[in-house]
Amino acid sequence: RKMGAGSLTTVITQSGTTQYSFVVVSNRLPVAFCEDEAGNREPTLAPGGLVAAVAPAIAGNNAAWVGWDGTFDGPEEPLAIQGMTLFPISLSERLVHDHYEGFSNATLWPLMHDVGIDFEFEPAWWDAYRLVNEKFAEAIALTAGDNATVWIHDYQLMLVPSMLRSLRPDVTIGYFHHIPFPSPTQWALLPHGPEVLAGLAGADICGFQSDADTQNFLTVASKQSSEVGGSPVPVAKTYPISLDFAAVSSAASSGAVAAKAREFRATWGDPGTVFLGVDRIDYTKGIPERLEAFESLLNDGELLVEDVVFVQAGSPSRENVATYQALQVRIDAIVKRINTAHCTSSGKPAVVYGAKNLEREDMLALFVAADVMVVTPLRDGMNLVAKEFVAAKSDHTGVLVLSTRAGAADHLVQAVLVDPLDHGALSLALLTAINMDSAQAKERMVTMREYLSVHDVAAWASDILGDLASREAS
Ligand code: G6P
Repeated sequence: RKMGAGSLTTVITQSGTTQYSFVVVSNRLPVAFCEDEAGNREPTLAPGGLVAAVAPAIAGNNAAWVGWDGTFDGPEEPLAIQGMTLFPISLSERLVHDHYEGFSNATLWPLMHDVGIDFEFEPAWWDAYRLVNEKFAEAIALTAGDNATVWIHDYQLMLVPSMLRSLRPDVTIGYFHHIPFPSPTQWALLPHGPEVLAGLAGADICGFQSDADTQNFLTVASKQSSEVGGSPVPVAKTYPISLDFAAVSSAASSGAVAAKAREFRATWGDPGTVFLGVDRIDYTKGIPERLEAFESLLNDGELLVEDVVFVQAGSPSRENVATYQALQVRIDAIVKRINTAHCTSSGKPAVVYGAKNLEREDMLALFVAADVMVVTPLRDGMNLVAKEFVAAKSDHTGVLVLSTRAGAADHLVQAVLVDPLDHGALSLALLTAINMDSAQAKERMVTMREYLSVHDVAAWASDILGDLASREAS
């Protein structure tokens, strides 16, 4: 009988290599490097959704995490951080270009999100995708102990389950898809789609963010399986990802965060209402659409620049991919246009836009400072920013405007829900949010907080790991 995820151990083999009973795999390792005074690279654990999700499940168990460290030709020596051992996969600049920027982020990402951005494809990208997935599978095969559990994350690694299965038939493999799974018609456009599906077929369980994603996957997988030589359909199930609600709520309640939030509001001229957007700068996030909805309200006199500000914080992302560069140019032009037409008598702009990575405390202070959080992606697997905003509002103030096209809308139904592709509806949603009376806003916020305090990331991880453990047992 294999070990469950609850009884994690490490084994030193005779050859001296350490093998782990639990291995997490993601394209990007949760690591950032700072340089110390002598110029040495010091790894630190980068905070993020996945670390928060996985850490409680593996804390203190010396689990392994396999992934790319974000550099070119980096060293492959393992890094020990906070009870985890990180195994970097070294990738050349060419492989990163073709696997990460190419097939992952110029083919799969736009195709899976299906927001009107054409996907691109080059045969060399597919070769690199296969090669990188092979490198991952080989590294996992060396790291995983007998009958280990291996948990693979996201679209950059969809071939790994089957590659690993043939190298290591003994391990239990879970795959979790963080982004949307598209409709069968959209999926049919993907070059090498059948091979990608065959890659996933190696997993014992494939997890998705929403029932719609799970259903789409099952439809295409069953169709392929019924064809001659088709692979069997793996078990597919919905596991909506969440956040560490208690940790975010308590971190956002600190005096330091409150002071910073007051400081921010003062910098923006202490307006009556602060609208806030916080996103990775990605064309799926709907940043231009939401700024334009705000602009219409200013142009029509429904909102007055003396009373409101729209703060849009964006972390730069995938800057070598052409579609991302074009988006940055588009956002800059919209912000310029709005601020040229609208600024206060004391010269404060209507839109405050910052494209940089924020410190955690600054991010929490933005949530605390905001009156209306505008989370309006054109398509999003889940969207944890929406959940973070709710978790940060321990005083029960604030209104969330949320896209019906984000997985989060399946659960945060007390938000002001809106389809961001409908320009008029989006403007109206901003007005509804600003005009909501405080008793109603509080009631909605309390309900969403209660939901998230139960459906947190620990519940998410234990659902999946529990299901994987019962696969091991059977
Ligand atoms: C999304 C994807 C992740 C990815 C993250 C950051 O959340 O689902 O797989 O890691 O974006 O993107 P990056 O390209 O910087 O890894």
